[in-house]
Amino acid sequence: MFHLLLPSLLIVGSALGQSTPACPSLPGAINYAANPKLPDPFLPISGARLTKKDEWPCRKEEIRQLFQRYSYGIMPPKPSSVTASMSGNSLRITVSEGGKSMSFSVSVRLPTSGSAPYPAIIAYGGSSLPIPNTVATITYQNFEMAADNGRGQGKFYELYGSNHNAGGMIAAAWGVDRIIDALELTPAAKIDPKRVGVTGCSRNGKGSMIAGAFVDRIALALPQEGGQAAAGCWRIADEIQNNGTKVETARQIVTGDTWFSTDFSKYVNAVPSLPWDNHMLHALYAYPARGLLIIENTAIDYLGPTSNYHCATAGRKVHEAFGVKDYFGFSQYSHYDHCGFPSAQQPELTAFIERFLLAKDTKTDVWKTDGKWPIDEKRWIDWTVPALS
Ligand SMILES: *[C@@H]1O[C@H](CO)[C@@H](O)[C@H](O)[C@H]1NC(C)=O
Repeated sequence: MFHLLLPSLLIVGSALGQSTPACPSLPGAINYAANPKLPDPFLPISGARLTKKDEWPCRKEEIRQLFQRYSYGIMPPKPSSVTASMSGNSLRITVSEGGKSMSFSVSVRLPTSGSAPYPAIIAYGGSSLPIPNTVATITYQNFEMAADNGRGQGKFYELYGSNHNAGGMIAAAWGVDRIIDALELTPAAKIDPKRVGVTGCSRNGKGSMIAGAFVDRIALALPQEGGQAAAGCWRIADEIQNNGTKVETARQIVTGDTWFSTDFSKYVNAVPSLPWDNHMLHALYAYPARGLLIIENTAIDYLGPTSNYHCATAGRKVHEAFGVKDYFGFSQYSHYDHCGFPSAQQPELTAFIERFLLAKDTKTDVWKTDGKWPIDEKRWIDWTVPALS
């Protein structure tokens, strides 16, 4: 038995911005026996395995708290004041909290066809996916919100202080939440806030996946080549590395980059003792269901293609329990240009955008890989899909 004892300073429900008052708070110390397989998403930390769909919202909240406590740091709640104004193609957002305030801007490029209010895709640093001319592009300079190198630097930390424990990924996700606030407040932006997607590639593939998982108002996430922490699971990545192929592992990711909370470094040498893995990030899109298309690349070993495939397969089982498998697509194709977009993946991208942003009746049942590895679900999954009433 291997137990993790957690610092008590993070346990208070009110300190966790995303907490829901009706749900039990996460225990301060979690005794989770080391488990080399992917933890059961249907089994809450305290309590029995889920039997009803309406038990999911509290489990979903618990999963968000687990990610924040162990890995991302805290995502603060909506600040006391958010205002916004449109000037030319720039949407300027001003946020105040606790006597401090900061402003940031995103650029909005409207489509040339369709009619306002338009659907939009928030692109971390600009999109590397082709966005059709029926959908607006909102370019989000996420590294201004949370610097990629330089912990505690960026607009988020101007507001919350440079010692705030949020890593860059969750700080940038908080910024996405504020962009949607601003779109709701600003009809002059000509964007329909109910039809907003998010995308990014590589490190921004991770960031966009996490933003969509934490911001329920995001209707569609299109994370591209994010590898581990987006598509892939830490447990599987560790095994790939132990087998001799270099891949991004939890142990590696906490060195240097400011993406996660410093707290994560306490746990990365004991990954099997984490009561979660990244398949539960996928599960955060399941109910109420929102669109998720993971776009991956089998040609780059460092992305951990087998981890991505098996981890997403586990995540989609939550969608299966809610009867929404086709809300979660997975497409993995080999090409040597990291963040390039092969035409072979265009049909699924088009289908997901049509269905979730353009309200068309397009089929999105996509699960494909050109990887040649044996598919071995049982190696990672020792739980079944429950029949939820
Ligand atoms: C690691 O190697 C073993 C033995 O060859 C194999 O069965 C297993 O699937 C490999 N693990 C991964 C994650 O590739």
